[in-house]
Amino acid sequence: MAVSKQTLAEIQAVAARYPSKQSAIIPALWAVQHEQGYVTDAAMREIAQALGLPPSLIEATASFYSMFLTKPEGRHDVVICVNAPCMLRGADEMKDYLERALGVRDGQTTPDGAVTWHSTIECLGACGGAPMMQVDHRFEENLTPERIDVIIDRLRKQPAAPLAPRHPLPGSPLKGEGEAHAKTAEPAKKPAGPRGRRSQA
Ligand code: FES
Repeated sequence: MAVSKQTLAEIQAVAARYPSKQSAIIPALWAVQHEQGYVTDAAMREIAQALGLPPSLIEATASFYSMFLTKPEGRHDVVICVNAPCMLRGADEMKDYLERALGVRDGQTTPDGAVTWHSTIECLGACGGAPMMQVDHRFEENLTPERIDVIIDRLRKQPAAPLAPRHPLPGSPLKGEGEAHAKTAEPAKKPAGPRGRRSQA
């Protein structure tokens, strides 16, 4: 899927603010991920062309940062913390339970497309709620098998998480999230943005 003209214009407008075009690589990857849900090799080549940079530079950045997706994934994504404080409170058991409950291994998506069980992760700074996992942009804390069942059941019924607020840089032709997505040909499929809101569930 080609990157929309609006997104390419946004990328170029953002790039014009920096003395080095390399500084615009991350905003450009975010812009494409907001539009398409993930960033394909073809989209990386379009970013490279828009910025006048080698495609290898875009690919290296996209593969370095875990927040950039390079293939379609489930409507929701899950990572579980296994760092020491969470481990001491049963994270390994919760990870095994999660895997059995989802029926897929880490890195895989459930057959219904609801959940991508990404991976274990080191401390997310929510040790007081150990053991914990992150679902989309939310923290789910004090995990037990029963809580995991409730969370998974909810995710299977829920559409994708809403997009995080988008804050275009001054100079961008896009004024805000609503306008940005009104102009794109395809709705965004995945959220993108800062992580770490705590769930009240
Ligand atoms: S060790 Fe798990 S959130 Fe800190």
